[in-house]
Amino acid sequence: MTRLTALALPLIALALAPTAARADVVARAASPDGHITLTISLDGEGRPSYAVQRNGKPLIADSRLGFMFTDAPKIERNLTLANARQASSDTSWTQPWGEWATIRDHHNQLTLVFREKGDLQREMDVTFRLFDDGVAFRYSLPDQANLHHANIAEELTQFAFAQGGTAWWKPAYEWNREEYLYNRTPLDAVGTAQTVMTVKLADGTHVALHEAALVDYAGMNLARAEGNIFRADLTPGAGAPKVSRDAGFSTPWRTIAVADDAAGLYMNHMILNLNEPNKLGDVSSWIKPGKFVGVWWNMIKGEWSWARGPKHGATTANVRRYIDFAAASGIPAVLVEGWNVGWDGNWFGNGNAMNFSQPTEDFDADGLAAYAKSKGVTLIGHHETGGSASHYDGQLDTAFKWAADHGEQVVKTGYVTDAGQIERVDADGAKHREWHEGQWMVNHYLRVVQTAAKYHVSIDSHEPVKDTGLRRTYPNWVAREGGRGMEYNAWVGGKNPPEHEANLVFTQLLGGPMDFTPGVLSLSGSEGSTIHSTIAKQLALYVVLYSPVVMAADTPENYARYPGPFQFIKDVPTDWSDTRALNGEVGDYVTIARKAKGSDDWYLGAVGDEQARSSKVTLDFLDAGRSYTAEIYRDGPGADYRTQARHAIVIEKRQVKKGDVLAIDLAPGGGQAIRFVASGGKRKR
Ligand code: NOJ
Ligand code: CA
Repeated sequence: MTRLTALALPLIALALAPTAARADVVARAASPDGHITLTISLDGEGRPSYAVQRNGKPLIADSRLGFMFTDAPKIERNLTLANARQASSDTSWTQPWGEWATIRDHHNQLTLVFREKGDLQREMDVTFRLFDDGVAFRYSLPDQANLHHANIAEELTQFAFAQGGTAWWKPAYEWNREEYLYNRTPLDAVGTAQTVMTVKLADGTHVALHEAALVDYAGMNLARAEGNIFRADLTPGAGAPKVSRDAGFSTPWRTIAVADDAAGLYMNHMILNLNEPNKLGDVSSWIKPGKFVGVWWNMIKGEWSWARGPKHGATTANVRRYIDFAAASGIPAVLVEGWNVGWDGNWFGNGNAMNFSQPTEDFDADGLAAYAKSKGVTLIGHHETGGSASHYDGQLDTAFKWAADHGEQVVKTGYVTDAGQIERVDADGAKHREWHEGQWMVNHYLRVVQTAAKYHVSIDSHEPVKDTGLRRTYPNWVAREGGRGMEYNAWVGGKNPPEHEANLVFTQLLGGPMDFTPGVLSLSGSEGSTIHSTIAKQLALYVVLYSPVVMAADTPENYARYPGPFQFIKDVPTDWSDTRALNGEVGDYVTIARKAKGSDDWYLGAVGDEQARSSKVTLDFLDAGRSYTAEIYRDGPGADYRTQARHAIVIEKRQVKKGDVLAIDLAPGGGQAIRFVASGGKRKR
């Protein structure tokens, strides 16, 4: 239960009428520890703005608020502050799965009611939440005489950074959706960015801009207006308004996470805290974090096909072999792609032939479901829509019933089409093209998750909408792609650079889990091309890149060639009771330690970039009074992602205890993975 208490002044000071042409501060608030402060101003033309300070120093300078509509004057000027309400809350809640078992939500809240002067007298409310590590706010537009329906052309929200700095960002509105490498540029050289956008300000402060609880609204991008000033840029829909809603709603939260360093940003819980609590009740019997293998890497490499024919991957014989391999390896699930009718012909951007309850004739669905069950393994079905989202909508119930009837606990979905090319077909047959992050698709993705929940199926969305923490409300939304995953390493011209994962941790993954599909121990893609990684780094990714469902992406044949390193993949869990980001710099390196849920064991992963990197890590996170066997998987002598020595690995054991210091040496393109086995402790895979 959230505890709301009235706070005494001077947390907020109110002056209901600005006096001069300049901006006057009309309200203030502070974070629970007082380090982050917020000021709300109204200028002489009645334009409201917010500003954020940290330790008394400006972080976000005066930044405007408001909306433009397609069919009514904008709300931005001639506003007065009619009322202000304050509250405070300090609660904790538990996650069914996640990086942390328990999450504390400690914040102060300030709700401001702005009212227009003049004829329209419309009301716009803005609620701010101040945490010790960031600020979030959202608008509410109540149903009112002159605003029963909002056709929003644009949100006028600004984020005016008070200093310059370096930004890590990827472009919005480009054809490849979310699958771009991160740019690292001066803050004042950003174009139009997707969120999460991460910034290291000139004084070293780290800030991440994102949004939380994106529901029935358009995804927010950030358009740089001038200098270090950004404005919300909502993703369009097929019609004129970017968002169309009956009044009486709240927007998603706009989030500004703040920390002294990159590792601190990773420890922020704002995104989850700003989402609604779990709406699915006790999910422990049907949502099961775990690893999976799959009929996949050979298709991504082009050796097998999704479509029927001589190279068809999802044959009964192949899938049986993968089930056997999973069972023998203690891996609980097998992903199967290309099992259904509809892939023949050009499915890219056209999934209208896809049937999600009709297997191909060479895939014995009933027999394989029974075989998998007998081996204690479940199948993960794949629904590739080719971007034909309405066609998929028409099948949701039958498709998820079919999946559940075949023992599938997780379904992977796909929306492979260029950005802005999703096919929406209205009831009257009218066709439209939608963006993956527009309001209509935001609603579609959630519809899929809600329908899947009825059948106790979890969803791993590829080509998704970005993660805004909805896993809290719908814990069956277990993972998504939403960035450049391992698949790029299969393609000759597409390799991810060594810094990519150290970028992902501090950008995309601040939003939530990513289905990156690590573990390609062969380090080879199609046509003998090599991956820009050492073998130890592939292991470290299991700890560094969090997801409750994680693939062991390589083939059984390749895993048979690397039994030593494969042992770590067999051992590492995918659900954690605690997580600590130990060090890191965006795009350079990161070290993360996690405690296995229901176990006394800890795991550590460290990844670097193209340079050799060394750091010293104090094992403060281990439990006091215990000894641990550290099973260390580190880059071997001469290991280097550019040479054959990318496979050089040393696997060794050491006895350690809390407070010991470990030197973590990473090769160029390298990484390190450690399992800390607690002596006499509880163990769980
Ligand atoms: C792209 C996805 O990311 C990949 O995992 C999938 O195999 C293909 N689309 C085919 O659906
Ligand atoms: Ca993809």
